[in-house]
Amino acid sequence: MIVSSAYIPAADSSDNKTNLKFVVLISLVAAIGGLLFGYDTGVIAGAIVFMQKKFTLDPMMTGWAVSSALIGSIVGASIAGALSDRFGRKTILLLSALLFTVSAIATALPNDMNTFVMARMIGGLAIGITSMVSPMYIAEIAPAAIRGRLVSLQQLAIVTGFFVVYFANLTITGMGDELWNIEYGWRWMFGSAVVPSVFFLLLLFVVPETPRWLSKQGENDKALAVLTQVGGAEYGKQELHEIVNAVTEESASLSQLLQPGFRRALGIAIVLAVLQQVTGINAIMYYAPIIFQKIGSSTDNAMMSTVLVGTVNLLFTFVALWLIDQAGRKALMLAGSIGMAIALAGAGASFHFHLDSAWVLTFILMFIASFAASMGPIVWVIISEIFPTKIRGRAVSIATMILWIATFGVSQTFPMLLSSIGPAYTFWAYMSMAVFSIFFVWKAVPETKGLSLEEIEHLWVKK
Ligand code: BGC
Repeated sequence: MIVSSAYIPAADSSDNKTNLKFVVLISLVAAIGGLLFGYDTGVIAGAIVFMQKKFTLDPMMTGWAVSSALIGSIVGASIAGALSDRFGRKTILLLSALLFTVSAIATALPNDMNTFVMARMIGGLAIGITSMVSPMYIAEIAPAAIRGRLVSLQQLAIVTGFFVVYFANLTITGMGDELWNIEYGWRWMFGSAVVPSVFFLLLLFVVPETPRWLSKQGENDKALAVLTQVGGAEYGKQELHEIVNAVTEESASLSQLLQPGFRRALGIAIVLAVLQQVTGINAIMYYAPIIFQKIGSSTDNAMMSTVLVGTVNLLFTFVALWLIDQAGRKALMLAGSIGMAIALAGAGASFHFHLDSAWVLTFILMFIASFAASMGPIVWVIISEIFPTKIRGRAVSIATMILWIATFGVSQTFPMLLSSIGPAYTFWAYMSMAVFSIFFVWKAVPETKGLSLEEIEHLWVKK
């Protein structure tokens, strides 16, 4: 039985109040997918330091060791929509948890790069899947009034994943000397992902399938049971009625995606997805220890500064969540892009003029803070809310896939850029993208703060 009322305490079905505890708990379970997204993409930052030596990697192979997982993510994000329509959101999240577990073990064992790359791609597949299905699961089960906040749990989970894994990397590095780390340390870093992966797998068994998907399958009685658990009997009936009506209206064709109004929405989402990446966030999130070693830090100190990066990232994500509905998406993204541009200019200058290494760290932290309070969470929010319901599924899938392609591009090329044009010009190149981002957000992105999804839909039709 898909609806697991046997496992989870049922709401009092006689009232109309949201069973907050239930909704928050199942959203948190889905958000562990986001935690693993952060954990599994971030683990490489520590591991690569030692893998470079173990496998004597040149800049191109360093890039490949870091970015190969993202090939899996591109594929995962592009098939997740169709798979979860066919087999259910919960089933596909279970599949991703299984893939995370397999990849954690398989990346810890290899003695050659090809096997390692295959194992990383399996993990990447899982990352790509959860990057789409976890937020979708939450959005489809949450009552409208708290949907935004619950979906934001995903970004909070991603940055928590980075924070935790940076800490795990630091701890493991401290467990042995350099030689031990080159032979075993990096294996423990990857292997440690087994813990959250198995946790995710087990917890997923006790969450229900989403009412929206159940209804699409014609299983309206099961959908009603979940909705009743979420908000009581009255809420359940009303919601089911709306879902049944909406479901018959959905499913877009490609030509609908390209209608003039919607085309603009798709264009904005894609450009923002690319800008989120080409301003260089993952050059830092995936390579921070290598950057810090470059400015003279010891391995231990480099891992420590990376924990600082993870901490600032986590703290400033709270700033975004706090301000997003007050200051608005546009204002925050503008301020964030300006902050990012200044920080990148400063980081480049610190390298160019050989300033004290404290300057590099300061500008990098400023960059992370500006990103975390703006482009990090908001780009995902915009992607999830900017499209009319009719085209949302396909459009989100396209934008997410392109985001992963851009992530791959940046993380594959970063070590190559470092060794060819050097760190100063690399950071200045990202800076030019941040400057473009300021103008793009200013001129092209409408403010969607406080608008209902239907009102956002009208923005496009009018144009
Ligand atoms: C981005 C990831 C990035 C993370 C850092 C997310 O919004 O999509 O690429 O690694 O933020 O916190």
